Amino acid sequence: MSTYHYLKSLIRDKNVASVTPSSGFTVKKATRKIDFSRDNIIIEYGPGTGVFADYMLERMTPDSRLIMIELNSGFAQKLRDIGDPRVSVHEASAESVEEIAEKQGVNRADYILSGIPFSFLQDDVKHGILAASCRLLADEGYFLAYQTSSHLKKALQQHFSQVHTTYEFRNIPPMCIYEACKQDSES
Ligand SMILES: C[S@@+](CC[C@H](N)C(=O)[O-])C[C@H]1O[C@@H](n2cnc3c(N)ncnc32)[C@H](O)[C@@H]1O
Repeated sequence: MSTYHYLKSLIRDKNVASVTPSSGFTVKKATRKIDFSRDNIIIEYGPGTGVFADYMLERMTPDSRLIMIELNSGFAQKLRDIGDPRVSVHEASAESVEEIAEKQGVNRADYILSGIPFSFLQDDVKHGILAASCRLLADEGYFLAYQTSSHLKKALQQHFSQVHTTYEFRNIPPMCIYEACKQDSES
């Protein structure tokens, strides 16, 4: 999908929340915690045009799975064209993640990757998504979120034991990347 089409999606749907897809630098940095040598269940919120999916599917093992949850119907339709047996696409809000996982026969996610604009969400919705993500995440798993500002750290710290923040400036606009996990490094 071209930047022009992406911009058209933004004009029609404020939840798209950015003028262009994430850069390759952001994709690489936001996924650096993922161990692609293992079979993984990865859930992605707000995949948009699929820039993360393209990168991850190239690296994921044949028995790994990628469950994508996208609110925008135009993007969801496009993502279905990926046509990879490891992928399932759900046109829904990330709020339904547990219901979707259950329908997919999944009770643990190794990684949850999120590009949804948390700053647009009501507090109860934001905390609902973070709590559900934490319940679904494997003990050694990571919740990985990229946002255009550093507003999410406090909320993440209410759900996860450890939250590390890093930045990627080679993105329009620059991106703040969070790596959150349930376990303390000593445990
Ligand atoms: C900033 S864009 C990121 C798109 C893509 N991941 C990228 O990095 O280029 C945010 C995406 O989240 C989607 N989105 C917004 N709110 C959502 C929600 N509650 N659940 C699922 N997707 C959502 C939007 O439709 C959009 O595709």
